[in-house]
Amino acid sequence: MLARGVISATLRSAFQSPTSKYSISDGDLESRGFLFRRTISGLNLDHLNSVFVAVGFPRRDPEKIKLALEHTDSLLWVEYSKTQKPVAFARATGDGVFNAIIWDVVVDPSFQGIGLGKAVMERLMEDLLQRGICNIALYSEPRVLGFYRPLGFVADPDGIRGMVYSRKQRKKK
Ligand SMILES: CC(C)(COP(=O)(O)OP(=O)(O)OC[C@H]1O[C@@H](n2cnc3c(N)ncnc32)[C@H](O)[C@@H]1OP(=O)(O)O)[C@@H](O)C(=O)NCCC(=O)NCCS
Repeated sequence: MLARGVISATLRSAFQSPTSKYSISDGDLESRGFLFRRTISGLNLDHLNSVFVAVGFPRRDPEKIKLALEHTDSLLWVEYSKTQKPVAFARATGDGVFNAIIWDVVVDPSFQGIGLGKAVMERLMEDLLQRGICNIALYSEPRVLGFYRPLGFVADPDGIRGMVYSRKQRKKK
């Protein structure tokens, strides 16, 4: 994921009433073979890596992915029951109290456009908000801003800009 800007979620109300606010219910998705998973148990990291690569993320060392996921507070993935493979994924790291950052929001290209990305994001947000974590940010590529906005994310809230460390910038000094 390229860091082009930070956007954060400000609309707590959008997620206050758990299941009724979901665009697709767990039952609906289950009947179509999509099962929500909230731990890494049963998650094949090579298959997850393949989904990352299929959407254009760089292939990463599975051992490093495993470590990163072990240090991740909240994660959510969707298993497709026919293949038992992950087809959608998102995770959030943070301090467990005030702040969280969402990473690696992906849907397998063969399963995009049927509501899985939104379903995963809605549930991840709900999990965080239920735990009282309200300061939620993510990095968004410009072409995906329109996906995050209806989920309650705004770019540069109150003029606040995100900054990321750049080795190139540092070398210039
Ligand atoms: C972005 C992504 C996660 C969306 O997942 P998805 O399952 O295809 O999206 P959904 O089917 O849940 O779409 C939900 C809504 O968002 C809209 N949407 C989806 N992608 C969008 C985009 N790039 N820009 C604007 N709106 C978008 C859909 O039209 C849909 O609108 P609706 O609720 O009015 O019908 C998925 O396309 C993906 O994995 N992309 C590649 C990886 C990536 O860019 N991840 C984000 C990194 S910043």
